Amino acid sequence: TVLIIDFGSQVTQLIARRVREAGVYSEIVPFQSAEEGFHRLKPKAVILSGSPASTGDIDAPRAPQAIFEAGIPVLGICYGQMTMCVQMGGRAEPSAHREYGRAFLEIEKNCSLFEGIWPEGTRHQVWMSHGDRVIDMPEGFTIFARSPGAPYAVFGDEERRMYGIMFHPEVVHTPDGAKLLSNFVHRVAGLKGDWTMAAFREQAVEEIRKKVGDGKVICGLSGGVDSSVAAVLIHEAIGDQLTCIFVDHGLLRMNEAEEVVGMFRDHYNIPLVHVQAQDTFLDALDGEMDPEVKRKTIGRLFIETFEAEAKRIGGADFLAQGTLYPDVIESVSFTGGPSVTIKSHHNVGGLPERMNMQLVEPLRELFKDEVRILGKELGLPEHFVGRQPFPGPGLAIRCPGGVTRDKLRILREADAIYLDEIRKAGLYDAIWQAFAVLLPVQTVGVMGDGRTYEFVCALRAVTSVDGMTADFYPFDMDFLGQAATRIINEVKGINRVVYDVTSKPPGTIEWE
Ligand code: XMP
Repeated sequence: TVLIIDFGSQVTQLIARRVREAGVYSEIVPFQSAEEGFHRLKPKAVILSGSPASTGDIDAPRAPQAIFEAGIPVLGICYGQMTMCVQMGGRAEPSAHREYGRAFLEIEKNCSLFEGIWPEGTRHQVWMSHGDRVIDMPEGFTIFARSPGAPYAVFGDEERRMYGIMFHPEVVHTPDGAKLLSNFVHRVAGLKGDWTMAAFREQAVEEIRKKVGDGKVICGLSGGVDSSVAAVLIHEAIGDQLTCIFVDHGLLRMNEAEEVVGMFRDHYNIPLVHVQAQDTFLDALDGEMDPEVKRKTIGRLFIETFEAEAKRIGGADFLAQGTLYPDVIESVSFTGGPSVTIKSHHNVGGLPERMNMQLVEPLRELFKDEVRILGKELGLPEHFVGRQPFPGPGLAIRCPGGVTRDKLRILREADAIYLDEIRKAGLYDAIWQAFAVLLPVQTVGVMGDGRTYEFVCALRAVTSVDGMTADFYPFDMDFLGQAATRIINEVKGINRVVYDVTSKPPGTIEWE
C-alpha cells in the first residue's frame, strides 16, 4: 500500500488515481487521522499532498513525524514538500508572490524520480501552484531541479529515498507527471504494478460483505452509470439483501424512467421500487429561481421521498450510493481549511444521519472512467457503461431560473433531438456530456409570415477525463446548423439556438 496523506488539495485524488494507473494500491487518509492510518496500513511508501495551507500558519497541518523515521520512501508534493522540509529540520516561509500555472523545470542532477524521462541538463514543462518557498533544505538533501521562480523545485535525499517537489505531477498539465509518480512507486519504492480493476472488484465485494453482514441495504438508483454500477456490485456481494429505489422526480430525460426500470427489474432481476414523485418535486420547485435553493430543495425532497419508501419496505440498515470522488471533492469542506463548496451535489450527505443508516459507497475513490472500467468488469453492456453522466438534480439545473412543467416538456424534446443528432453523427462516445439547456429568455423570431416570441435553447457538449476540468466540444458548423434547425422546427416553444463555448474552469459543465 501507498499511503497518501491529504492536506486538502483539490487534486489529491488525482495522485491516488495515478498510483492506481501505475498498478499499485493506495489509500488516502486526511492529515487529521494520518497517524492512525500510518500504523494501520503499514505503507511501503508515503505521498504528502498539496494544501491551501501555508507552513507559516499557526495551525499548519503536519504529517506524523514517524513517517520520516520509518525508513520508507516519502514524496512531498507542493505543500507536502514544505512540511517535509520543515519537519526534517529545514526551513520554509510564505513567499511574497504565489506562483501559479505553467513553469519550466531545469534538471540539475539525475535522480531515481527522473529515470527514463528527465535527464540532467534538459528542460520540462510542469504545473506549479504554491505560495511557500524553501529557505534551507534538511541536512543531506540535494537540489535535483530548479525553475526560474523556485530554486528548490525538486530536492531530495536518494539514500533515504525522500523527495520534495514543488510542482503538481498528478495533473495533466505536467505532461510527464504520471511517469514521475510511476517512477516513485516502482523504482524508488520497489512496488510491483499488478493491481487491477478486477482486484478492486474482489476487494470491494469482500468489503461490502464484511460491512453489511446480514443487514439490509437500499440503494437510490438514478439510472446513471454510477449508481447502476454500485447497485450491480453490491448485488454481486449480497444478492437480494439489496433493494433499489428509483425516485422519479419528474426531472428526467425523455423515456429515461422506462429504460431504467426495464433494465434493472427485468434484465438484472434486482429488486426495484419505482416511486412516482413528479408532483411533489415540481410543486416544491414552483417559482424557485436560486440554483443552490433548487439543488437543496431537490436534495431534501429526495431524502424525504426515499425515507418514506424505505419505511414502507420495512427499513434498512445501510444506504448504498454511487458517489464518486469528484462528487465528494466538489461538495465537501472539512476542517483544516480545504476545498470550497462549488455546488451542493445532491447525492452526498443528509440521508444517512436522518435515517440512522450507515453508508455503503463502494465507488467513493474512483473517477468516472474508472467506474466505466469497473462496470465492464462486472459485465454491464458496453452501451450502458458508455452512457454520459446525468446529474442527480436532473433537468432542474438545465432550466436556469424557474422550473415549470411546460419548460421541462420543451427542454426534454430539444434534448432528445440534440442527442439523436449526436448519435447519428457518431459523436456520442467522443463527448463526455452533451445536453440542452433552456434559457429563461425569450427572443423575437420570424417563422413563416408570423412573429414569434419564444425561448432560447443553449446546446452544451464537453470533453473531459474526469469531470473536474472540461473543454467545449468543437462541432463543425454544419452539425450545429442541422441540430438547431431541427430543434427550432420540431419543438414548440423554442425559436433560437446557441452553442456554449465555455470550458471548465472558468465555467462548470452544468449551468447551475
Ligand atoms: P459541474 O457542473 O460541477 O459538473 O462542472 C461536473 C459533473 O457532475 C455532474 N453533476 C452532478 N452529479 N449530482 C450528481 O450526481 C449533482 O448534484 C450534480 N451536479 C453536477 C455534472 O453533470 C457533470 O458531469
